[in-house]
Formats: sequence, C-alpha cells, structure tokens
Amino acid sequence: MAQYKRTLITTALPYANGPVHIGHLAGVYIPADIYARYLRMCGHEVTLVGGSDEHGVPITIKAKKEGVTPQDIVDRYHKIIKDSFEELGISFDVYSRTTSQIHSETASEFFKRLYDNGQFVERTSMQLYDEKADQFLADRYVTGECPHCHAQGAYGDQCEACGSSLNATDLINPRSAITGNIPVLRETKHWFLPLDRWEPKLREWILEGHKEWKTNVYGQCKSWLDLGLQPRAVSRDLDWGVPVPVEGADGKVLYVWFDAPIGYISNTKELYPEAWEKWWKDPETRIINFIGKDNIVFHCIVFPAMLMAYGDNYQLPDNVPANEFLNLEGNKISTSRNWAVWLHEYLKDFPGKQDVLRYVLTANAPETKDNDFTWHDFQQRNNSELVAIAGNFVNRAVVLTHKYFQGIVPAPAALDDIDKDVMGQVAALKGKIADAIETFHFRDALKEVMNIARLGNKYLQETEPWKVAKTDMERVKTILYVALQICGDMAVAFEPFMPFSAHRLADMLDIKKLDWNVLGSDDIVPAGTQLAPASLLFEKIEDDAIEAQIKRLKDTEEANRLAAWQPAPQKEDVDFDTFMKCDLRVGTVLECERVPKADKLLKFIIEDGMGTRTIVSGIAKYYRPEELVGKQLCFIANLPPRKLKGVVSQGMILSAENPDGTLCLISPSGPVQPGSQIG
Ligand code: MF3
Ligand code: ZN
Repeated sequence: MAQYKRTLITTALPYANGPVHIGHLAGVYIPADIYARYLRMCGHEVTLVGGSDEHGVPITIKAKKEGVTPQDIVDRYHKIIKDSFEELGISFDVYSRTTSQIHSETASEFFKRLYDNGQFVERTSMQLYDEKADQFLADRYVTGECPHCHAQGAYGDQCEACGSSLNATDLINPRSAITGNIPVLRETKHWFLPLDRWEPKLREWILEGHKEWKTNVYGQCKSWLDLGLQPRAVSRDLDWGVPVPVEGADGKVLYVWFDAPIGYISNTKELYPEAWEKWWKDPETRIINFIGKDNIVFHCIVFPAMLMAYGDNYQLPDNVPANEFLNLEGNKISTSRNWAVWLHEYLKDFPGKQDVLRYVLTANAPETKDNDFTWHDFQQRNNSELVAIAGNFVNRAVVLTHKYFQGIVPAPAALDDIDKDVMGQVAALKGKIADAIETFHFRDALKEVMNIARLGNKYLQETEPWKVAKTDMERVKTILYVALQICGDMAVAFEPFMPFSAHRLADMLDIKKLDWNVLGSDDIVPAGTQLAPASLLFEKIEDDAIEAQIKRLKDTEEANRLAAWQPAPQKEDVDFDTFMKCDLRVGTVLECERVPKADKLLKFIIEDGMGTRTIVSGIAKYYRPEELVGKQLCFIANLPPRKLKGVVSQGMILSAENPDGTLCLISPSGPVQPGSQIG
C-alpha cells in the first residue's frame, strides 16, 4: 500500500426497489466499512463512496404494480436504505443516488464522449413491442412458456422454474406483462460497447497483472475472457433512466449497468466538486470495488472497458474483493419472497445492537463460499463470544479497578514475565490483524481481534488479582494496569469491526482518539487516568427475541406457500357412464355430534328421502355440530359402508379444501327435496 497516496473505496450501489438485507451487508457494506475504518485509523487518506442505483426495469415494474411513479419508489427506498446504513455505522463519505442531476450529467457526458470517439457500434435488431401500450418491452415485461422446461410464466430474461437464462424472443406464446397483449417484433436501434476490442488489454490487465485477486474473482474473469467477449448493448427502449444524449434516440435511455458504475464517479464529484479528479485519475490513488459475486463481470470487464474507452487517465480498480452469497436459515435470500432479515427491521427489533449484527455477519462472512445465517447462531455468538469473552473481560478489569483504586488506573511496578508475555502476544496480534485486513480476510482478522480478549481473560484467570489483593496490593496495581492496556488494545482493534462498542469502551477508558498505531504499545491507558463507571459492552440475548424472529420467518414461509397455491392438475378423463354410476344426492342434517376420542370427526344423521343414514366426516375442526343441524348437504350415497372409530359410515359428505387446508362443506344454493339426485 505504501506506493499509494490515497484509497478510493466503492460499494456496489444497491437497487432502490427494496430495503437492504443481511446478504448485502455481509457481502459488501460491512467489509468495505471495516476496510475504510481501518485505513483511516492508520492515518491513510480514504474516501468511502456509496449510493442508490435508481434506474432499471424492476423499479418501473414495482411502480406500475403499486400505481405510483418510479420516482416515488426510489425516493421511498433511498431514504430507508440511507438511514439504515447510517444507523448501522457504515461510514460513507458520500451516499448519493443515480437520479441526481450531477449523475445524469456525468453519465450523459460519458456516453457522449464514447459516441463521439467512435467507441460504440450501432446495431438494429428485432425486439418485442406492445402495440397497445405503445412501447418496446424490456425482457422482464414479457412472460410466456419456457422453451426448455415448458413452465408457464417464465420471464423474458429468465425462467425461474428451471433457472435458464432466456432471450425474450425465445419464449413460447409470449405476452406483454403490461397489457396481456401478444407482442409483435419491431425493429429498433441500439448502441453497443465492443468489448471484443478491449479483450487483449483486459486479458493482460487481469490475467497477467492481477493474479493476487481472490480466486473466485480471478476465475470468473478468466472464464469470461476465455469464452471470448462480445459487443454489449448499452442503451434500452425505456422511459426511466438517463436519456441517450444523441440525435434520433427518442425513447431510449442508458442501460442501467452503463449508468450505475458511473455513479461512483458522480458521487465522488458531488463530494469533492473541486478535487474529485485526483481520486479517479491519479496513478497514486488506489481504487477498491466491494461487490457481491453477481456483479463481477460488470466491475472487472465492462466498467474497466468503459474507462479504457473513455481514456483521460481514468484508473482501473486495483482490487475487486467480491464475496459469495449469504443464505438465511438454509434458503437463498429473496426480496420477492420476503425471505430476508431486513436491516431497517433488525435495527427496530434490536435497538443498540448494531455491533452484534456487524460481528455475526463478519464472523460468518461468505468470503470464500456461500454461508448460512441462522438466528440460533446469532444468539450463540452474542452470548458465548461477545458477552462471555469480550464483555466479561472488560467488565472484570474495570470493576476491579473501581473496587481497589477508585477507578484510577494504577501505576505498575516492574513487570513480571507473565505480564511481558501477554503484552508481547497482544502486540504480535496487531500484525496478524493488519495483514488479514489488508488482504481482505476480514473473518480471520476478527478472529484475531477476539483473541485479544481471550488473552486478557486468560491473563486475569492466571494472575487472579482478586486473590492477590489479600496479600500484595502492589502486584494488583501491575496486574490491573496490564489488563487495562489490553482493554485499550481491544478498543482500538474493535473500531473497524464494532465501532459502537469500541467508542463506548474508549469512553470508559478515557481514550480520546482511537489510533491503530498505538495498538500493542504499553501505555494506551496511562496510569492516573480516571475511568468512567463500568457499563456492560454486550448483553445476553434471550430466547424469546430469537423465537420471535424465527416465527416471523415461519409466517413468511406459510404466506409464500399460500401465494404459490395452484389448483391440483385436472384428473384423467372418465367416461360418462362411469361418472353416472356415482350416486350424488342432497340430504338434510337431522343430528350432528362429535365422535368421542376422534378430534377430527363429526357424526351426521341425515334425512336422505328414503329414511335416515349415518355418515362420518372429518370436518370437526371447521364446524361446530350445533350449527349444522337443519342444513342441507351433498353426499355420495353409493359407497360401500366403512367403519370409522367404531361408527359405520354410509357415504361421504362433499367438501372443498382451501389453500390453507381448511375445509368447507358443499350445500345447495336453495332448498332441495331431501334425496334428490345431483347431476
Ligand atoms: N444495483 C446493482 C446490484 O444490486 C449493483 C450496481 S453496482 C454499480 O446488483 F457499480 F453498478 F453501481
Ligand atoms: Zn424453464
């Protein structure tokens, strides 16, 4: 890092069509924030850039569904996202949005320059057009039958049933999702960025120049490059986005993946109207893009090609530490299925516990493979790591100092071996933590940070100041002095990962400024310092808070099941004569009662026109017997008698099952003579 003067850290701009969830946090924002905070504490010049990605088709679809404008949608979610990031302590220097004026100017100018310099190829192609809505249909706006698995309701870009990527024009029986109309093919012109022109440079830059990138990132780039790059369309027929700034482009906007990464530049400009260029064009600036794995091709291939095509000394990223995905309780996180832990809801449900989430998501970050978040793991890590190890150590050191020395840090006598030893071990962790952070191994780094607390606990366990206090108060002074230095080390080392706790601890220890360089030095908390009263850094999380979260997920699962309900497939044909053999009739309920020792069954006595008959039916959960007496029902009269819980049933009462499993009896819509046949 030494050869660089400053570091520009970017975070993938989240789409403003929903709030952010733990998958976004673990993959992008928490690691980026750890990295930024660490570099700042080292005294390095850093800018952390973020913002909302406010264009693209899904936003327009959501707006249509709700009957509001796309601007309403992005205003709503931009605010939720921005506020919740701030509350979680993500230390953005700027968090802006791609609907800002400075962004549309910047993106527009970027496109214009590439256009003027002949960096695009123009192509016409046939696209699906909805004549009723009078517009071209984005892939997501077309549904139809999947050409591979023949599922209905596949989208123009993807079939969710079999997962294949599709072209809208491949769908069987395509329909417009806007009007339901059958779309027609119409010719349209678009601009393409010829990635093939940049392929040799990209190969050299990545495959030769960046062998140090994470293997998942390097591997994905290599397979893209080995397949051979094709020109990519950078415009769309859509009315939401940055207009294409050339003649004859009415009704066309920049493709969202063209404008969004330029957002990094626009947001830097917004932050530093004068000085922004040095953050992008000075070779002494280092650019790091934090993203999730689904963004790799855009950040490693497409955006770099755009920057090379623009020229003017734009710097390419030095590293793109993409993470894999986080799952939730064994299932893929899904915005549309509401299978997520939403940040703004977490902050409401667990006030003041930002650091717990930051801790768990870092300890379990999907750095090398997909990982799973579970609420039990969350509780376990809080209770047996944060509370039992870190909180406990700090509390013992501070409480004992209050008990023996009125909270004033005692001056140590000469250090024993055990004291020097523990201080040496903590100092050695500093280098390990720094190395891990600098190579984007945040999980490992956090493990070493917690090892500081582990060393502290072990030290107190071995030196037992509460026992020594009975005989040798001088020795207690040294022990507590050493323990408090370790607390100070924790405050420093915690800051990038758990800034809220770090600053509370720093306040308790009266440390004015958390500086990475003092970690492991021997007077972070000088003798004579007056400590604040001890307060708990972490608190136990009880079972009921966890159960409430698990219940919410169960409810979501149930709601999804209901939403996905479809009528059972139609049974095989029967011939008419077979059907006519079935004797369906109307009867009147004379008596109805529960069947003893069978909580599902009701016993009916039915007037069937010929006399009375007994029928047993499994609907006791849905009806009280009294309410059925006098009602008319439909039943099958000619089934062989069956014994149910000791009662002989002479037929079967007709009912229908709802998606949630509830049963509903079928009755005639008006009075019918008992015994009448149905047919
Ligand atoms: N909105 C995109 C996503 O969530 C990420 C955009 S990153 C940017 O996948 F570079 F384009 F801004
Ligand atoms: Zn399919």
